[in-house]
Amino acid sequence: MEYQYLIDVNDQRNWHFPIVNAEANGNVWEEARTIHFPVGRDSLMRVTDSVFHPQPTAHCHYHREACEIFFWSMAPFDFYSGGKVAEVEPGCITLHRPYEPHGFGFHDISRKLGFFHRMDMTLEDGTCSALLREKRPDARKDPDFPKDGPVMPDIIRAEDPVDWQRVRWQEMDCVRHISRPLAVERFDGVTMKMLIARWETAGVKEIWAAEMEKGFTACSNPYPLKTEMLYVTEGEVKFTVYDDTFIAHKECIVKLPKYGEYRIEALSDAVVYDVNGQTEWFSFFRSRSSIRTTDPARLADPEAMRELKRRHGCEIRTIGRNA
Ligand SMILES: [Fe+2]
Repeated sequence: MEYQYLIDVNDQRNWHFPIVNAEANGNVWEEARTIHFPVGRDSLMRVTDSVFHPQPTAHCHYHREACEIFFWSMAPFDFYSGGKVAEVEPGCITLHRPYEPHGFGFHDISRKLGFFHRMDMTLEDGTCSALLREKRPDARKDPDFPKDGPVMPDIIRAEDPVDWQRVRWQEMDCVRHISRPLAVERFDGVTMKMLIARWETAGVKEIWAAEMEKGFTACSNPYPLKTEMLYVTEGEVKFTVYDDTFIAHKECIVKLPKYGEYRIEALSDAVVYDVNGQTEWFSFFRSRSSIRTTDPARLADPEAMRELKRRHGCEIRTIGRNA
């Protein structure tokens, strides 16, 4: 059976249903494609890739249920959110929670990889929209075409921002960067940095970056109970899942299927984000820190640590270094 563990975002074979968004005058402002369709109750693991062209309008909008987490690259752009506007640099992450109005002003070509939850755009939606484009390419110009949809029901257009206060991106709560983590936990060979906390996403996910040193290794439990999605932004990382081995490099997404024992090895210094964010890393690390102070013998007890990891959904059994 075939399972796609490795998704190279720059490989066009992984671009599903590419679309072009244009203004009424025909000017293209976004080229977008779906990289992964959502799964499960919270529509987790929806991933899209977009290239934005310079444009005069901010396309300001908000969502009633959906949450967006965007990783930005290529060029700075103006980011509008919550009454403020800042120039956001490549490497920043923006967080758009329900009812947080947000918009973007692009002066150069910019790009984002977007991770969504609770925005339910299924494979069926993509298939039907592609079929419509093929069969009736001018449908959206048809006066009979429904004005309120049918695609993207949870994108509520807002008026474009006027007189929003210009600040530095560091002064905007919803702009994150690995240099400004909310929490840090250091281990031999890896530093974990929290960029988005679980309490900021209604408990659905938390986003951590793992800064791995060359030679760092991590091994999972024999039968992990959840599918993980990782995003490599720097370096090269070797993965072994079941009996398959592959190497993920910068701008690759890795899916680790539940039940499949896996091993991770950093072939160079690397940065890997846990973008599905189901492990309760923050709670696990805080509990571990408390135990270290109050009951160090428990910390050395493998069974007690297995139980602590199980409670917080941590499927990493061991970490180490390649000699
Ligand atoms: Fe949005």
